[in-house]
Amino acid sequence: LNREPVIFVLFGATGDLSQRKLAPALYNLFLDSWLSETFCIIGTGRTKMTDKSFAATLKDSVRKFSRRNKVDTKEWTSFAQHITYAVADVKQISSYEKIGKQINDLKLKWKSKSVQVIYYLAVSPELFPVISQQLYKAGLMKDTSHTRIVLEKPFGHDFESARELNQLLEKMYDEKQIYRIDHYLGKETVQNILAFRFANSIIEPLWNRDFIEHVQISVTEQLGVESRGAYYEHAGALKDMIQNHVLQLLCLVAMEPPISFNADEIRDKKVAVLNAMRAFEKEEIRLNTVRGQYAEGWVQGDEVPGYRQEPDVDKDSNTETFAALKFYVDNWRWQGVPFYVRSGKRMHQTSSVISIQFKDVPHKVFPGETMESWQQNRLVISIQPEMSIRLQLQAKRPGLDMMLNTVDMVFDYNGVYTTQTPEAYETLLLDIMSGDQTLFMRGDQVETAWALLMPVINTWQGRKSIHFPNYAADSWGPEEAEALIARDGFHWFTLPLKDSKQE
Ligand code: BG6
Repeated sequence: LNREPVIFVLFGATGDLSQRKLAPALYNLFLDSWLSETFCIIGTGRTKMTDKSFAATLKDSVRKFSRRNKVDTKEWTSFAQHITYAVADVKQISSYEKIGKQINDLKLKWKSKSVQVIYYLAVSPELFPVISQQLYKAGLMKDTSHTRIVLEKPFGHDFESARELNQLLEKMYDEKQIYRIDHYLGKETVQNILAFRFANSIIEPLWNRDFIEHVQISVTEQLGVESRGAYYEHAGALKDMIQNHVLQLLCLVAMEPPISFNADEIRDKKVAVLNAMRAFEKEEIRLNTVRGQYAEGWVQGDEVPGYRQEPDVDKDSNTETFAALKFYVDNWRWQGVPFYVRSGKRMHQTSSVISIQFKDVPHKVFPGETMESWQQNRLVISIQPEMSIRLQLQAKRPGLDMMLNTVDMVFDYNGVYTTQTPEAYETLLLDIMSGDQTLFMRGDQVETAWALLMPVINTWQGRKSIHFPNYAADSWGPEEAEALIARDGFHWFTLPLKDSKQE
């Protein structure tokens, strides 16, 4: 249990992330006794508010977004005692002095010197430099073993800006004080990829180019861009999803076995994958990348606007809401094995799935007429919303005749475990409090991921004559994405929805 006194200074306390994700996560950690009695949330923002009114906004959010069904009044009252608010202008050093004083008062009250102070920057990325510099100038992060700074994504908007931000942070702080968030790494099913691969002796011998034909990573969302048009216009699917979440998933699938579960050891192994990824040359960008933008359409009976009609989006926007790419990892283990990835908004299904397709049997003993269906062995790691790992096998269908079909051996989280799965942010916040950086991005990881994608980003930005929109809402993306994978003789894998029959 993390029983150390903790002060959690939340910049952007009234913003979307704080309200949707951080407040519910902190409340759940409190209820599950992961926080000590000596903890305090200091929310900061430009809006004038009292401690009480700030706590009330958090309560509303917790009610709306927490995985718990209801908020118990007694429990909330005891949580709310730990919430305070400070009006702050992040540009003014006086705001930091005020926060510093609040921190010192708490330390005196708690009679404790070893208090962890976490500065969480849930703000727009343009504010990262100013806040991190002011914290430094105000001397609030001098104690390197008891202070941490947390930066949300996006970490930079290209390689140069990510490098600049890293250099700025590294000039002031130790890497062990810096926590760069990629919330996918906190998801239970994502963490389980390492357990699955390295805690089972039967997996690793098959996990290479001798047995695996290709890998797919698909992270699709039914939602459109919602109210985030202003941000998304400068991002697009490549920067918003592929550069971070999808490449992190790819690293977990492709990394070499670590020697230990040490944060730097794991991160070294992941960077090694990024370093081994084949650089995109001009011709490969043409052949192996596809971008798309959604048109208007219907989703579950509701009419939805196209991307260009969304609020804060340019009427002629060329920002992609879908990206598909084919990667290669040029090393001993993966030579020649394609990794297909795709991510998009307004897709037919919300699901994050990794599919590992194994090579076909070397010789087919069973004649064609005995096969109702034939599917090469496939391992499907479903991250969300279904949380499962399934191995697709060929089996004899019961009956007097010899008839084969495809069946799934399934490990379904909800069937095996009755405990509620913690939200990604609960895991990540607890790790920050206890100083475990395993699930956070190191500076070199972020930069290497940007460097890999820069040729694609530059080409896409430079080529304006694109026929957008090019896929309908509620579809599986542009036709070119099908062609990208079909050229190699494969098709995108989709997990059948719960109520539909097995493939
Ligand atoms: C965020 C992206 O990082 O991840 C969003 O900025 C996206 O555009 C979100 O919707 C998806 O996260 P999750 O946890 O809902 O899959």
